[in-house]
Amino acid sequence: MTYDVQYVRQQFPALNLMVNGHAAAFFDGPGGTQVPQRVIDAMVDYLVRCNANSGGSFLTSRNSDQVICNARQVLADFLGCAADEVAFGQNMTTLNYQLAFALSREAGSRREILITEIDHEANRGPWLALAERGFEIKEVRFDPDSCMLDLEDFLSKLSEKTLVAAFSYASNGIGTVNDVHRMVHMAHQVGALTVVDAVHFALHGPVDVRELNTDFLICSAYKFFGPHVGVFYGRRDCFENLSAYRLRVQPEQIPYRIETGTLNHEGIAGAGEAVEFIADLGEKFGQPFDTEATGKVWSERRRRIVAGMKAMEDYEQPLAHKLIRALEQIDRVRVYGPPADSPRTSTVSFTIEGINSEKVAAELGEKGLFVWDGHFYAIRLVEVLGLMNSGGLVRVGLSPYNTEQEIERLLIAVKRIAER
Ligand SMILES: Cc1ncc(COP(=O)(O)O)c(C=O)c1O
Repeated sequence: MTYDVQYVRQQFPALNLMVNGHAAAFFDGPGGTQVPQRVIDAMVDYLVRCNANSGGSFLTSRNSDQVICNARQVLADFLGCAADEVAFGQNMTTLNYQLAFALSREAGSRREILITEIDHEANRGPWLALAERGFEIKEVRFDPDSCMLDLEDFLSKLSEKTLVAAFSYASNGIGTVNDVHRMVHMAHQVGALTVVDAVHFALHGPVDVRELNTDFLICSAYKFFGPHVGVFYGRRDCFENLSAYRLRVQPEQIPYRIETGTLNHEGIAGAGEAVEFIADLGEKFGQPFDTEATGKVWSERRRRIVAGMKAMEDYEQPLAHKLIRALEQIDRVRVYGPPADSPRTSTVSFTIEGINSEKVAAELGEKGLFVWDGHFYAIRLVEVLGLMNSGGLVRVGLSPYNTEQEIERLLIAVKRIAER
């Protein structure tokens, strides 16, 4: 069945919002997507039927543990790993701080850490904080002309002193998809650990942690139709050796060793349901998956999830390319992103010469066109692009519920602003 955006839209109650007589167009997906009704229902169901703390010998506690256990398996299918390699936390940033401090405890003679200029602060700040503990933090160059990371610089900064190379799968600022497979391989050649920030990428393509072979990867469910919950992957051998700070009463086994305190149970229920939603899109609109041809041994659910991710991307990518081409035709508009033949997400950022990006976003917002402006915490990237004094970027994030008509509305509005 071909992708039916109207069917997809019907699943999201928030999309009916009106602003000043205009239907709201949610182009703010990279900041957080909207939530299908079934995710809301799953969270309500948790609170009605299962609301209890973990490990009790009574019905609601057992129900609660079952919901979390199911969600863990669903998220494992989402990432392509085993359930006990998946931990939940407050958000990506907090999990990454926990990871950074844990890894710093067992660093031995490896005293250097690589971060990148393209990354969100969430994958820079926790590592920069380790300077206080005597680590040297090196930054991999971002090339403002190609809008890509400089992989030669990455390679030249790796050494047998590198403890961790931390980099993003894709840029939340400009949509560049980094060559993460190559970066993981390069880092492993010198014995460094890899930490991949998949927060932006996770809505834009299937993540396969086994194929990627990263040691750690973190994402956030609110970027893929879920509530505000962080999702952590640790490859078993690395995770089992991770010296996470934990309470005496907290289990030492994975995945619990990094799960401090009581988790956001209803959020975890919603996160699992968000992935089930993606799997159902795969069932409805995805291409049948030939696991024999790919040599992958995947669960039925993972096959449907991957098909769902691909169906959404097949829908969004042509729209993104159309948007880029049309923006580039508008006088004074400059689009920032990787070269046309390089992998990218459907997140498109631009500026209008002589007009502050905050002003552009505010005007679009009045017309119900929800775009972000500024640096979106990818502040180093925006500094390198030289846009800090002009309000940063205007970011249009396409999600699987955006339509061609919404893009046309946006283009007309941008053109009007640029022509003034
Ligand atoms: C690429 C990227 N990394 C990390 C984060 C931070 O995620 P969280 O809000 O879960 O801490 C974001 C949030 O926008 C992001 O886009």
